[in-house]
Amino acid sequence: MIPADPIDSGDPMAGSVPISSDARTTRGAPLAPRAVAVINAEHLTLRFGAFTAVDDVSFHLDRGELFGFLGPNGSGKTTIIRALCGLIPLTSGNATILGMDVRQHAADIKRHVGYMSQKFGLYEDLTVQENLNFYAAAYGLSASAASARIEELLALTSLQPYFTRRVAQLSGGWKQRLALACAIIHSPEVVFLDEPTAGIDPVARRSLWDLFFQLSGQGVTFFVTTHYMDEAERCGRLGYIYMSKLIALGTVADLQQLPDANPPGTSRLEIEAPQVSVLLAQLRQFPGVREATIFGRAIHALVATDSIDALRTAFPQLSVRTIQPSLEDIFVTLTLHIMGERK
Ligand SMILES: Nc1ncnc2c1ncn2[C@@H]1O[C@H](COP(=O)(O)OP(=O)(O)O)[C@@H](O)[C@H]1O
Ligand SMILES: [Mg+2]
Repeated sequence: MIPADPIDSGDPMAGSVPISSDARTTRGAPLAPRAVAVINAEHLTLRFGAFTAVDDVSFHLDRGELFGFLGPNGSGKTTIIRALCGLIPLTSGNATILGMDVRQHAADIKRHVGYMSQKFGLYEDLTVQENLNFYAAAYGLSASAASARIEELLALTSLQPYFTRRVAQLSGGWKQRLALACAIIHSPEVVFLDEPTAGIDPVARRSLWDLFFQLSGQGVTFFVTTHYMDEAERCGRLGYIYMSKLIALGTVADLQQLPDANPPGTSRLEIEAPQVSVLLAQLRQFPGVREATIFGRAIHALVATDSIDALRTAFPQLSVRTIQPSLEDIFVTLTLHIMGERK
C-alpha cells in the first residue's frame, strides 16, 4: 500500500502513510507509558550510498509538543521524517515512536502516525468529500467510523461549505486544510507536517497553525518543518539542522543563549537609520562588524563589543541599542559559524 518511494512517485497517496489491512489485524506493539518520549531519536544516521543525508541526530519529543524543525533545503529534514515514519531504513542509530521501534514495528507505527508530505497527494479532480472518503478507506475506517470522523474533521477545519467542491477549485490554504484532514483521518497521536504552509498567504498560514495548536492541546504531538521564522517562534521547541547535522535544539530562549549564536566579545545591535540600505553598505565595511542585515527601518548587526564606541563616534546621528538575537539572527550566525569551521 505504501509506494516504494512515496515522495517522488507522483502517486496521490504520496507522502501519506496508509495502513495495510494486515497491520490493522496484527496485535501490534504495546504503546509506551505516558512518561516515555513520544518520539525518541538516538544518533540517527541515514546514508544514500556514500552520501550522509542525516548525521548522528538525537532528540526527543513529549506528548502534545509542537516541535518546529528548520534548516536550509537539502539539509535532511524530510529524510528524518521518512525514517521516523518507517518509510526508509535507518543506516544506524535508533528511533522509537510511542515506544515502538521504527525498525521492528513500522506497520504498527503507521497506525498511530499522520504524515503530510511536502507534496501531499490530493486528487485534484475529486471533491473534498471524495478525497476524505478515499483516505478513510485507505486507512481502513469502516463506513460508520469514516462518516463520524469526516463530520468531526469538517467541523475542525471549517471545510463544510466546500464539501462538494472539486479540489482543483480550492485555494492553496483550503487545499492544505484538506490535506491535513486527510493526513489525520485515522486520528493519529503523532503528526509529521513537512512544510505544510509553504506558498500560502499569511492569513491562511495563521489559521492552519490555529488548527495545529487546537490538536496539540488535545495531546497530539506535532513535528513541523518550516522556513518561516514567525512560525518557528510559535513552536514550543525548535531544532535547526544544517548540512545533515542538528546544530541547535531548544526553546527560543535557549537558542538565544547559545554561545555560538552570541560569540564572546560581540554584541547584537539594532541600528535605526533614515536610509538603511546606504548605511548597510557602510556598516559592512566598518571594522568589527561581523554581520549586518536590514530589518524594516533598522539594521541588525553583530559587532565586536570593543568597536561599538568607534561606531557611535563614526555615526553620531544614529540610534543604536543592544538587542537579543532574533531567530533569523541565530540561525544565520550558527550557519556562518559552521561554514567558517568547515572552510
Ligand atoms: N532517496 C535518496 N537518494 C539519494 N539522495 C537522497 C535521497 N533522498 C534525499 N536525498 C538527499 O539527501 C539530502 C537531504 O534531503 P532532504 O531530507 O529532502 O532535505 P530537506 O528536506 O531538508 O530539504 C539531499 O541532498 C537530498 O538530495
Ligand atoms: Mg524537505
